[in-house]
Amino acid sequence: MGEINFFPEDLEIKDQKIILRLDLNVPIKDKVIKDDTRITLCLPFINRLIEKKAKIIIISHLGRPKGINDPNLSLIPIYKYLKDVLKTNVYFFRGTFDGETKEKFSHLKGGEVILIENIRFFKEETEDDQNFSKKLGELGDIYINDAFSCSHRKQASVYSITKFVKKSYAGPLLKKEIKAIDLVIKNKKEPVTCIIGGSKISTKINVITNLLKKVNNLIIVGAMANNFFVYKNLKVGKSLIEKDTKEIIEDIYKKAEEHNCEILIPEDCMVGTDFEGNGKNKKLHEIEDNEIILDIGFNTIKSIQKKINASCTVLWNGPAGYFENDSFSKGTMSIAESISKNTLKKSLISVLGGGDTLAAINKSNDKLTFSHLSTAGGAFLEYLEGKDLPGISVLK
Ligand code: 3PG
Repeated sequence: MGEINFFPEDLEIKDQKIILRLDLNVPIKDKVIKDDTRITLCLPFINRLIEKKAKIIIISHLGRPKGINDPNLSLIPIYKYLKDVLKTNVYFFRGTFDGETKEKFSHLKGGEVILIENIRFFKEETEDDQNFSKKLGELGDIYINDAFSCSHRKQASVYSITKFVKKSYAGPLLKKEIKAIDLVIKNKKEPVTCIIGGSKISTKINVITNLLKKVNNLIIVGAMANNFFVYKNLKVGKSLIEKDTKEIIEDIYKKAEEHNCEILIPEDCMVGTDFEGNGKNKKLHEIEDNEIILDIGFNTIKSIQKKINASCTVLWNGPAGYFENDSFSKGTMSIAESISKNTLKKSLISVLGGGDTLAAINKSNDKLTFSHLSTAGGAFLEYLEGKDLPGISVLK
């Protein structure tokens, strides 16, 4: 496999139409952006393209609308944000892609920007539809993928679009991410602890199974851990669980034993009767029918801190609970603080990834330090596994 084609900063791009795939998938509630980290990271490159008078066509997704035009997942709040911060004309496009789309973009002048509405409103995006990819590709002269966090998806605007533009490059953010993660993989020291949170075990099963072979400890937190409680015949009240995970979990334990990887699941938790209320610390067998597990408990925090203190490398993806409510953010914050302290004082190698993890860390009042903070969640984990990500393979 060849080298990745990184975007040459000295390339003459005046009046060239650049399709820029970004990951502007940020948390938005009631049309308000809750954490703008992913956007702010993209701004320096957008500004450089503006200065160089390129015609910039930005594509991004937001959430997983499954081909449906869901107003809650519109990019309008992001459009307004870009309009505010970019010192140029910014337009918004929410039409369809057909023979006339190119014409509709013809008003764009060098140094101006068009943001396309959530690309996942089209089911053809996630299906990596060839005709759709062609229509997207025809909009530009150059394609730049600066969305490392989407590069594990074989989707039209990340993958097949590259067949229909003259030149495709990896952008500077993507470059920075893979260089940093490569460095960590190369210098990784044992014991290695991987902390995985989030809700869906089925979407992370392959990653978990492969990581088991590479790490010494695997800590499962977040709603994902609820499935392990059910597997152990514990009652979880109204907590989020997935159906039919028995075999998945059985397989995880089997593989962990084969590869000498210790699996840690929470031993207590913080529960509430709704997402907005207060929390109560409970042992696992004490959970009542009307309660929801919304964070890890005090004893679990201590056990995780002990593991972090004894590790030389920590990889973390996915919060430990519903951190949006302060009553349930202690688990996530304690993990973050503990990793940061060890990174500063004991040269722990620490890599954190994922939109939610970033948003959680940004809530902290203290300045936290990590070896690398990745914008990517799933892509970060798959890259750590050693996979050739589809969106990167097409840039080689
Ligand atoms: C992310 O949040 O990790 C990226 O935006 C990718 O989103 P996806 O998992 O919905 O593809």
